[in-house]
Amino acid sequence: MADRKPFIAGNWKMYKTGPQAAELASRLKSLVGDITDVDVMVAPPFTALGVVGEILQGSAIHLGGQDLFWEAEGAYTGQISAPMLKAAGCSHVIIGHSERRQYFGETNETVNRKIRAALLGGLIPVLCIGESEAERESGQTFSVVQKQLEEGLEGFSSDEIQKMTVAYEPVWAIGTGKTATTDQAQEVHESIRGRMETAYGNSVAKAVRILYGGSVKPENIGDLMAMADIDGALVGGASLDGDSFAGIVRYK
Ligand code: PGA
Repeated sequence: MADRKPFIAGNWKMYKTGPQAAELASRLKSLVGDITDVDVMVAPPFTALGVVGEILQGSAIHLGGQDLFWEAEGAYTGQISAPMLKAAGCSHVIIGHSERRQYFGETNETVNRKIRAALLGGLIPVLCIGESEAERESGQTFSVVQKQLEEGLEGFSSDEIQKMTVAYEPVWAIGTGKTATTDQAQEVHESIRGRMETAYGNSVAKAVRILYGGSVKPENIGDLMAMADIDGALVGGASLDGDSFAGIVRYK
């Protein structure tokens, strides 16, 4: 994984009430709060950002949102903006997760607007891309991922791209227990980095971290991290338990 700093992120999805999130955050703080050779980030539900942010203060664990809206404020019932996430202590925000694309109408165009809003608000976007099972079976993996990348990132400068993180998450591997093989993951990661190189140049392509997501566990993280273009993981299910997430963070 070259000299990019490993990055392990936990996406708590729609799990954990405030008190449950507080308990998990305290556990994580004691288990991995002092780790600095791996960037660690957790993305709790919006309602738990405040309490988790408070608990994580003084630790090295970063806080992230799971989504945001592209306007900074306004009459948009139910939405959360970049300035709100920032004020709640977030440094990162996940954008374009496949569940947002599948259930909430997220498109490459809305992803693009959200990335713009995140960058304007001083947040690091974690852009999620990945093919469905049908797309993989019909041989469209590379074209789907390329389109998500191109349209999601349309209009950004190399400087802006350099600030972002990309997460490759094959939809068929999310929450299913089916992990892509390390070779399957690596070949897509390599193609993503190749696209970045063509579009933004070698130094950007070398700097951008590409995370893998989809049924990552303490048992498979080591093999994934050994691949040249896998720089970390975006973890769902296994991030909901302190010990298993810590096991992933401490993969070395
Ligand atoms: P999973 O989810 O680890 O439960 O497969 C990954 C994700 O959706 O980010």
